[in-house]
Amino acid sequence: MEKFEKLLTIQDLCKYYPMGKAKKDGDKKEIILKAVDGVTFNIFKGENLGVVGESGCGKSTLGRCLLKLIDATDGKIIFNGEDITDLNSKGMIQYRKDMQMVFQNPYSSFNPKKTIGKNLSEVAEFYGLKSKEAKERIQELLQYVNMDTQVLGRRCDELSGGQLQRLAVVRALIPNPKFIVADEPVSALDVSVQAQILNLLYDLKDQFHLTMMFISHELTVVEHICDRVMVMYLGGMVEIGVTEEIFGNTMHPYTKALIASKPKDFPEEEKEQVILEGEVPSPTNVPTGCRFHTRCAECIKGKCDVEIPPLYKVADRHWVVCHKAKEAAKAYEEARK
Ligand SMILES: Nc1ncnc2c1ncn2[C@@H]1O[C@H](COP(=O)(O)OP(=O)(O)OP(=O)(O)O)[C@@H](O)[C@H]1O
Ligand SMILES: [Mg+2]
Repeated sequence: MEKFEKLLTIQDLCKYYPMGKAKKDGDKKEIILKAVDGVTFNIFKGENLGVVGESGCGKSTLGRCLLKLIDATDGKIIFNGEDITDLNSKGMIQYRKDMQMVFQNPYSSFNPKKTIGKNLSEVAEFYGLKSKEAKERIQELLQYVNMDTQVLGRRCDELSGGQLQRLAVVRALIPNPKFIVADEPVSALDVSVQAQILNLLYDLKDQFHLTMMFISHELTVVEHICDRVMVMYLGGMVEIGVTEEIFGNTMHPYTKALIASKPKDFPEEEKEQVILEGEVPSPTNVPTGCRFHTRCAECIKGKCDVEIPPLYKVADRHWVVCHKAKEAAKAYEEARK
């Protein structure tokens, strides 16, 4: 077995939204919103890959594309060796059970008019479980999330956000998936229950041999629970690597700024402050060259604003999309010789 076996391979993935026509340079032109714009990376079996970046940078869109809840505009998605990019909903049936999502708002996972029991048994039925099997599976999973079967008779509005998120996890685990996208799974919850849900996800990942993509704004959480981290900016990936590399050998100026803005464990040990200047550009008008150059303190005029940086390998399992990383990449190659 390969040391790092791929579960997903994502190649040049794009999700564009046409936004209608508008006048530009005297002509009426189609406005295209580039929510995800040419992202290439792998997800390895058993890992928890954190995805971070400012609001609107395309994290949820990427997660939805991977699970094929929405169709990508371009690029490829290989799941467990099979190209699933162009599968329609019928073709996706066998993969649906393998790939599940836990959403930010647990209320969105349930039909408020039906009991939790009915909601869950319908999901089990959809995945082909007979009613006895379904009942057993739901009961078994409720034990894993420390909930009593009494909850099955209740409806969404009778439960707390934390309870519902546990049930959303049960819902996702019913078909015994291989891969889960957890999209900000605790950010809608009361702070007092956030840690419980995070610990639960962390434990279940191991118990059920899951691979996870964990989308979050909280860098501190990502640093603690993710094996690798991918940083997105304006629809693109700017840096990806093992967590210790991303936080200990940060390369991309954007990642540096994100980390500098994270609350400090030890405030007296202030790191160098990197302040992000200016507004995030619109995804309908992505800057030329490096997409981050308009806000980058280290921008090289005539290069970063013109040339799109390639993906440089700067250390073992650490890749960066930045012209400045070229030197680090060279040094890494030299050291390997
Ligand atoms: N269905 C849609 N139609 C048009 N634009 C969309 C659609 N869905 C998302 N977008 C746009 O795509 C971009 C990326 O959105 P997305 O929700 O993926 O960001 P995000 O990183 O998950 O943000 P947040 O951290 O706020 O959840 C945003 O500019 C958003 O407005
Ligand atoms: Mg989102």
